[in-house]
Amino acid sequence: MTRFLITSAIPYINGIKHLGNLVGSQLPADLYARYLRQRGHDVMFICATDEHGTPAELAARKAKMDVADYCDKMHAVQSELAAGFRLSFDHFGRSSSERNHRLTQHFAGRLAANGHIREVEEEQIYSVADGRFLPDRYVRGECPACGYAQARGDQCENCTKQLNPVDLINPRSEISGSTALEMRLTTHLHLCQSAFRDQLAEWIDSQHDWPKLTTSIARKWLRDGDGLQDRGITRDLDWGVPVKRGDEDWPGMEGKVFYVWFDAPIEYIAATAEWADKHGHGDSHWLRWWRNDKGARDVRYVQFMGKDNVPFHTLSFPVTIMGSGEDWKLVDYIKSFNFLNYDGGQFSTSLGRGIFMDQALALLPSDYWRWWLLSHAPEYSDSEFTWDDFVTSVNKDLADVLGNFVRRITKFAAAHFDSTVPTGDWGPAEQAFAERLQIRITRFQDRMEALEIRKAAQELRAIWAAGNEFLQDAEPWKDIRQDKSKAAPTTALCLNLVRLYAIISQPFIPDFSASILQCLNNPHADWPENVAGALKTLPGGHAFSVPDVAFTKISAEQRDRWKARFAGADKPGNAAVDTP
Ligand code: MF3
Ligand code: ZN
Repeated sequence: MTRFLITSAIPYINGIKHLGNLVGSQLPADLYARYLRQRGHDVMFICATDEHGTPAELAARKAKMDVADYCDKMHAVQSELAAGFRLSFDHFGRSSSERNHRLTQHFAGRLAANGHIREVEEEQIYSVADGRFLPDRYVRGECPACGYAQARGDQCENCTKQLNPVDLINPRSEISGSTALEMRLTTHLHLCQSAFRDQLAEWIDSQHDWPKLTTSIARKWLRDGDGLQDRGITRDLDWGVPVKRGDEDWPGMEGKVFYVWFDAPIEYIAATAEWADKHGHGDSHWLRWWRNDKGARDVRYVQFMGKDNVPFHTLSFPVTIMGSGEDWKLVDYIKSFNFLNYDGGQFSTSLGRGIFMDQALALLPSDYWRWWLLSHAPEYSDSEFTWDDFVTSVNKDLADVLGNFVRRITKFAAAHFDSTVPTGDWGPAEQAFAERLQIRITRFQDRMEALEIRKAAQELRAIWAAGNEFLQDAEPWKDIRQDKSKAAPTTALCLNLVRLYAIISQPFIPDFSASILQCLNNPHADWPENVAGALKTLPGGHAFSVPDVAFTKISAEQRDRWKARFAGADKPGNAAVDTP
């Protein structure tokens, strides 16, 4: 037994996530957590909402809500959707928690004490009417390139030109509309990341087993140096973690908060502390996951994220950890993902383009989506969601192959053996099948352990298909007419195979698994270490009930309706944010 700490990149609070977000971190992390638990490991699976920064403030403003209330509401919405997709977090925390405030301030205090933080004076836009400095996005004006009147200080949304707020013609405050803006000097904290270049390079070079996608992005940023410039870690916002060094005030930093990317990854740790608090455990319970000197040395820490998150997890967050001078755990393995596209373009939160988690669950149960997304995970290149492919995959893999096998054999056994498992000794065909399956299951395990998600899904599909082939060759429906006892061993094996499928498919399609095990009156979902033994678990005479149709096929007509409906969502304005 190993202890596994698993974290998924924490989704931004502003709005409901789309399926591309889901497959890039939370869903594969859930697959892995579920699998490892089944194999008897001790798992701590952590996620949270990422609640700070200007996007949260702006989304709250747009929703005409106080930002704290907005975050409360959206955290509840995201928790419910996570539950709908059966994401089995041990804790779904919040980066706005008291724990994260204290830990973020703690890390800043340690980094400062170790000389890794500099105070830097810089000029920034100040709004006299609002009485505050304005972040880039809070300044609007005319785009110098295209003349668009509503251009934002960081980028023109019309012509996409990257801007600085000083470039804008007739700039005004996004908050009040006031044009009384001036440049003022202010002090910010910079994290001295560049001093860690050698240490980081050595660390990354020693990770021989990491996916290429992860190391190539990390190396690129290290080499180009862009990712390793010293970086401002404070902002002039009201909403966020107030800048302090540990418990002490930081003179000159009044009214400032830490930059969202500084506090967000610290929330992985803080969320584990939130977990301990929720269960009434003392600090030692979460420290044993995170502090090598407090029992975490034997923990294997695996992170999941989209490729855009890789620099923050291979460079910035490790600098926070290393620079603290304390024995916090560094990540052992980073599984990163390319992007999932939607029907010839990108999923887009700001444009409301694609399918969002709430919409998906309103159409079909989560197993359908989980199966398609995981079996098409964008591991080695970007992948694309199309309705045609989705429907084919659901109808073939889930309905024709898996669902049909379960249905056929359980109905057959119900009709001819009175809804019990028949008794009968295996012949050579059963023996040979069990041996072949043992090889396949071992391969499936290897792929799951190596986090080769698509390949694991392929193997699982092949295992399902093998059951159909076995049944087709054995033809128990012919034997049953002459000599019932001849059909018994095949039937008994196949009923046990249904149980085995329910168990090994659980990380992909947990609802299917739970309902099948219930129909089989067999809650003991032990992993089939020994396949031949596992295929004899349900003994002769064991009663079961025929499961309902597990997966309904999607008709061409339904597919076309959905295609048309979601093409219509291709318009500005995040539908997800506006949905209560
Ligand atoms: N909220 C970020 C995103 O969705 C991910 C943050 S991950 C963590 O891209 F490092 F902050 F935890
Ligand atoms: Zn422009």
